[in-house]
Amino acid sequence: MLFEVAGLTKRFDGLTAVSDLSFGIDKGEIIGVFGPNGSGKTTLLSLIAGMLAPTSGTITWKGQPIQGAKPHDIAASGVVKTFQNPQLFAELSVAEHLMISGHLMLKRRLGWRRVATLFNPDTGHAGADLERRAGEVLKLCRLDAARDQTAAELSYGEEKMLGVAMALMCEPELLLLDEPASGLGQAEIENLEAVLRDLRAHGTTLCVIDHKVGFLGKLADRAISLHHGAKIAEGTPEAVLRDPGVIAAYLGHQRGPSHA
Ligand SMILES: Nc1ncnc2c1ncn2[C@@H]1O[C@H](COP(=O)(O)OP(=O)(O)OP(=O)(O)O)[C@@H](O)[C@H]1O
Ligand SMILES: [Mg+2]
Repeated sequence: MLFEVAGLTKRFDGLTAVSDLSFGIDKGEIIGVFGPNGSGKTTLLSLIAGMLAPTSGTITWKGQPIQGAKPHDIAASGVVKTFQNPQLFAELSVAEHLMISGHLMLKRRLGWRRVATLFNPDTGHAGADLERRAGEVLKLCRLDAARDQTAAELSYGEEKMLGVAMALMCEPELLLLDEPASGLGQAEIENLEAVLRDLRAHGTTLCVIDHKVGFLGKLADRAISLHHGAKIAEGTPEAVLRDPGVIAAYLGHQRGPSHA
């Protein structure tokens, strides 16, 4: 197993957001995580990415324990999370956002020497590497045409794709995506699906949260479903989405699985 969590638990005061959760991910897999609002999906990704420390349990990445490590160290080791809503700088261009994100990648490669590239980003070996990577990422994410637009000029779908592109600048081996399809129209969802399939074809392993069953059910190789932070089903997406416990969990919430 490339990645494994075992007995993972996160409590916030009296509330158990993630409860004794265990599952693994193989290299090159796309894992889908389903679950109604408040079932612990975002908390799970935040625990994996190091934004939260678990109350108990282990997270193992390439045979090493990473639970409780700092987010930048986890990202530098190849595990990178996108946000439900990316935080962008309205006045900066798409390309500039990628250059900023690329500095995390440089930290991994160069350590403290990356500081020089902050002041002279377009000269030298490191700056050229960054430019090349940004070009590849823009193409992969179908953002070439928007390269010089500011974030303020982007559509919502482009904003979300820029969030994915920024994560890709860190060269993730395991990419964690929190509701990448939420708020997108059908054409944007198809575009996203094509981008994620391309990514997998390039060797990236994906763990994707989404409510859109039509999108994630088709994309994922394997799925797990959470309810009150615990795993209530695991298997093919079709089997998980037919599971009576999963259906009941969704019916107890206002927002059911959306068949987009
Ligand atoms: N920092 C926090 N402090 C206290 N409680 C929290 C915190 N973060 C999350 N929770 C609670 O933990 C539970 C799980 O929340 P989480 O955001 O992980 O759910 P989710 O499955 O991502 O929901 P959604 O589908 O709405 O995004 C919720 O009851 C939430 O209120
Ligand atoms: Mg969430």
